[in-house]
Amino acid sequence: MSEISVEQLSEEQAAIELERLAKTIAEHDFLYNTQDAPVISDADYDALRRRNQAIEQRFPQLIREDSPSLKVGAAVSEKFSKVTHKVPMLSLDNAFSDEDVGEFVGRIYRFLKLFPGSPLGITAEPKIDGLSLSLRYEQGRLVSAATRGDGSVGENVTNNARTIADIPQVLNGAAPDVLEVRGEVYMSHADFAALNEKQEKDGKPVFANPRNAAAGSLRQLDSKITASRVLRFFAYAWGEVSEMPASTQMGMVEKFQSYGFTINPLMRRFESVPELVAHYHAIEELRATLGYDIDGVVYKIDDLALQQRLGFISRSPRWAIAHKFPAERAFTILKGIDIQVGRTGALTPVARLEPITVGGVVVTNATLHNEDYIRGFDQKGNLLREGRDIRVGDTVIIQRAGDVIPQIVDIVADKRPMESVAYEFPRLCPVCGSHTVREEGEAVRRCTGGLICEAQAVERIRHFVSRNAFDIEGLGEKQVEFFFNAEDESLKIRTPADIFTLEKRQAASPLKKLENIEGFGATSVKKLYAAINERREIALSRFLFGLGIRHVGEVNAKKLARAFGSYAKLAEVALAALVPLEKSDKGNDAWRELTDVEGIGTIVAEAIVDFYQEPHNTEVLSALLAEVTPLDEVHEVVSGSPVAGKTIVFTGSLVRMSRDEAKTMAERYGAKAAGSVSKKTDLVVAGPGAGSKLAKAAELGIEVIDEDAWFTLVGAD
Ligand code: IVH
Repeated sequence: MSEISVEQLSEEQAAIELERLAKTIAEHDFLYNTQDAPVISDADYDALRRRNQAIEQRFPQLIREDSPSLKVGAAVSEKFSKVTHKVPMLSLDNAFSDEDVGEFVGRIYRFLKLFPGSPLGITAEPKIDGLSLSLRYEQGRLVSAATRGDGSVGENVTNNARTIADIPQVLNGAAPDVLEVRGEVYMSHADFAALNEKQEKDGKPVFANPRNAAAGSLRQLDSKITASRVLRFFAYAWGEVSEMPASTQMGMVEKFQSYGFTINPLMRRFESVPELVAHYHAIEELRATLGYDIDGVVYKIDDLALQQRLGFISRSPRWAIAHKFPAERAFTILKGIDIQVGRTGALTPVARLEPITVGGVVVTNATLHNEDYIRGFDQKGNLLREGRDIRVGDTVIIQRAGDVIPQIVDIVADKRPMESVAYEFPRLCPVCGSHTVREEGEAVRRCTGGLICEAQAVERIRHFVSRNAFDIEGLGEKQVEFFFNAEDESLKIRTPADIFTLEKRQAASPLKKLENIEGFGATSVKKLYAAINERREIALSRFLFGLGIRHVGEVNAKKLARAFGSYAKLAEVALAALVPLEKSDKGNDAWRELTDVEGIGTIVAEAIVDFYQEPHNTEVLSALLAEVTPLDEVHEVVSGSPVAGKTIVFTGSLVRMSRDEAKTMAERYGAKAAGSVSKKTDLVVAGPGAGSKLAKAAELGIEVIDEDAWFTLVGAD
């Protein structure tokens, strides 16, 4: 090709060249993907792409809307269509010791009111370290495959899943009309090693571990690439099923096998904790010989009717738990300690380490928790590490467990350098210089700078746009910092509402157009505005989580969203609630309504009320609400439930179910279970021995029924 080198291109020539490249690459893509008939070698194709990229790097303002670089690469996730899981894909709670397993089983006995010693079948199987996939079959044919995503919405990877040999395209035998089989996609150690060898030979980046390699291979735009990598699949769970083919966990998995799936050969069923734990240790012994990565053992209650009764707590089933293998450890040198200031002003010490591989992952940072942890004390003032403090220069033992942030668990005292000095935790905020304070009984030191502290304001916006909150693509850390620090009024983003007024302010501004600023370009600005506008309507739980209220993380945000249903209702209660001054004080109605939400205790409630009582916050909020609409939360409930929307109080001793189970059941039927009787109560379900709540119900003229009548009412008899 008679090409001018990229460095010598004029802007005009570059524009023409980019147009030519976009067309040529698209043609080759079509020939390769759709026609299975490439006409150039991979190397020549790569050269075209590299040239396109080099020109775009020199002239970012010329990046075309149809640029090939926007079709693959970093923004892959955007390119998959989305699949909404009819039945959410949940995660698992963890157990870390044999005792935790005993407690898990104990909780289940209590919840189900089983007599100690009565038989309870529990399955145990390896926890595969891959990524979960949901496969939908209709009339026995594979129709779609979706990744877990955020649990509610995943990515459509159907074409890629079709290339996996363990995944049948057509099921054997008579399977239910609609069957969603779920399981884990993983890569074996041997295939992982071979892939990395090839990547290295081709000058491509190698994968850190088999899990990343499996994820990277499955989430490919080009299913040819997926097909060229050996992926495997174990079936272990399900989503929507039109007619259940079995009544136990084991029975379901055996059915999957009969349909043509691979199931894990180490799955067993037991009836006691010692047997479960023995199987766990047996699997642990086998771990190194399995040929694929596992990170623990999953226990599941075998009887599906019991699973149904047990239900879920936030994002994990009550009927299953993952017993994780102990963390992996390694030695390295602590090179420095940095202090990060979080969006709540918390100062967190972060260890900078000599890079080291732990369990297949390169670790360069580790958390040091707080100043006491560095000094060698825990929260209660007890000695940690026999009182050994942590100093820069120390040889440290770091530990990594699953996805948890690595931590420094100890130091090697013999290797401490002579000249080392004890670490002094800063008394001033490293970002804004304000004083820091440590409240009584708190382990954390906080900056008092509030909104004048850039770290907090920037962090708040970063949190606001983060994946599990508003999830605005194109507003990464760098961009947030850029907009935050922008001088020009039409570019400044200091509060969440500013994000949503940016496009309008920019349109009105003759100067400082975003697309002329380095690193942006017309296409990316367009995309950014589109991403922002897409979030003008947002799930209530994401909205609440995005606000960054203390103690309102994802889980609590979901609980609040479910309980209140609409933003208006929550705000009304939060604004009206008065925090009781004394423990004995029950607070006003609004306070009780807030603390009646299952899982919302007084600490969380107080944080919410505090947030709403701070004028600065309500200003920021009303500006935001002028731009954004939080959507009412609708949750899946049994349809046609006679108690939908009702508030129910359970009192007295219940015989057919435990109190927790009653709450879960009420929720399943679309009702809300409250802890105390008030004017807002619609129904009281009373067992023997009910006292003051019954009296209160009589006083307020609220209907009271017994437990049996409750079962009849909802039609669960
Ligand atoms: S059961 C409702 N079984 O672990 C719970 N999960 O931490 C359904 N995983 O997202 C999951 N091996 O990706 C189950 N044998 C196994 C598993 C397993 C791996 C993964 C799965 C899930 C994650 C939860």
